[in-house]
Amino acid sequence: MLGRDTAAAYRGLIADVAGRLSERFAAVERPWTGPAPADLAPAVAAVDLDRPLRSFEAAFDEVGELYLDDAVWFHHPRYLAHLNCPVALPAVAAEAVLAAVNTSVDTWDQSAGGTLIERRLVEWTAERIGLGPDADGVFTSGGTQSNLQALLLARDEAVERALLKHEGDVPLRGVEVLPRLRVFASPHSHFSVVKAARLLGLGEDAVITVPADDWFRMHPAALDAALETCREQGLIPAAVVATAGTTDFGSVDPLGPIGEIAAAHGVWLHVDAAYGCGLLVSAEHRGLLKGIERADSVTVDYHKAFFQPVSSSALLVRDRAALRHVTHHADYLNPAEGAVPNQVDKSLQTTRRFDALKLWLTLRTLGPDAIGSMFDRVCDLADRAWDWIASDPRFEVAAPPSQLSTVLFRLAGADDEGHRKAREALAASGEGMVAATRVEGRIALKLTLLNPETALGDIVRVLEALARHGKTAREES
Ligand SMILES: Cc1ncc(COP(=O)(O)O)c(C=O)c1O
Repeated sequence: MLGRDTAAAYRGLIADVAGRLSERFAAVERPWTGPAPADLAPAVAAVDLDRPLRSFEAAFDEVGELYLDDAVWFHHPRYLAHLNCPVALPAVAAEAVLAAVNTSVDTWDQSAGGTLIERRLVEWTAERIGLGPDADGVFTSGGTQSNLQALLLARDEAVERALLKHEGDVPLRGVEVLPRLRVFASPHSHFSVVKAARLLGLGEDAVITVPADDWFRMHPAALDAALETCREQGLIPAAVVATAGTTDFGSVDPLGPIGEIAAAHGVWLHVDAAYGCGLLVSAEHRGLLKGIERADSVTVDYHKAFFQPVSSSALLVRDRAALRHVTHHADYLNPAEGAVPNQVDKSLQTTRRFDALKLWLTLRTLGPDAIGSMFDRVCDLADRAWDWIASDPRFEVAAPPSQLSTVLFRLAGADDEGHRKAREALAASGEGMVAATRVEGRIALKLTLLNPETALGDIVRVLEALARHGKTAREES
């Protein structure tokens, strides 16, 4: 165990691991080796977990074979697939600190300074958003949990309002309100919205899809109409979810008009800025978030657009009172009469990592402008990649230029199977990695750019390889 007697051994161990990893980082030449599950599964299955190797070196060597040799390296400039970022060095150092100290940010008596640091970062983020003097929030494990908690708060606020308003002879019960609640989101919102509705007892059908425009942004007029219809049907709008940076298209819903409509209908506005939160520190593109200050709650994923290691996310709320919906006092942990700040009062989790330390050390070392300019760089790179693809007859763009940093495209003349094969062959070759999704029913390939060190030349190299693999797939079919 790490403690007084093992302090020196700890130093040696971490230095050794850092040395081995640094050698690997220096030697990485491709984002992935591209194995199939069947290539790796037998070796993992063959490990006898009841028979330890009794040496850290041997165990680490084994992990090298089972995991690191075939790891996916997000820092590699030709990793262009999902919303994963390379990580800022101060944050990596912080990760080592928080694992060693093992702070749990649930109660003051388990975290002290950690509680204050997390609170300060929540305040800082809420100020950047413009949520006002009563704002608050809490770090979470990711955008999925942030969205779940936001919708839980919205649900419980809606239930409370419905019970208060009820004027009939027989008092309503909360369970009678639940089936009448509806959540409004565009077809391009993250799937965690639908999943949250299910988990919260509303059911997936409670999420009403509001049509989007040709740029994949929610139509404000359609939202207005959908909210009107909801009321006419005797249903209760509980939340509008606007997305500031859709996963596929990087589109930002028009937050200003959506905020006005949500306010006019008295509905909770949640902004999922898991991806677009980088705009909060951007010098060039902050304007895209205009209107976010009207939100009742906001999801930010520092582990996407702030170059933080997984996990690092937060949920911010305009009115701290709303967090009471997740508060429960236990004598053994956070008694109601306590006078100290306990973050567990605001969180879905109890034991919780001190992820805030990573963002803190990043901000204190690099500052917000450096993060913003890295995010601006990937957004600008996406525009240049789009232009390149649009001008090459071997490709077709599958969507207009993104407001953030994705690019959707197809191989000219290839069908779904052709795209699948070309993408797989690319990954297996180690030349690069791209993602795939569907646009209007057909497979499209996707670049998600989150590495400020990726250059247009890296992208062109991946595209050239894809064109080659696409041609081979066509010839073989
Ligand atoms: C818009 C959006 N919201 C939420 C999420 C979920 O975030 P996480 O993977 O951190 O749970 C994602 C993930 O890609 C996302 O793109």
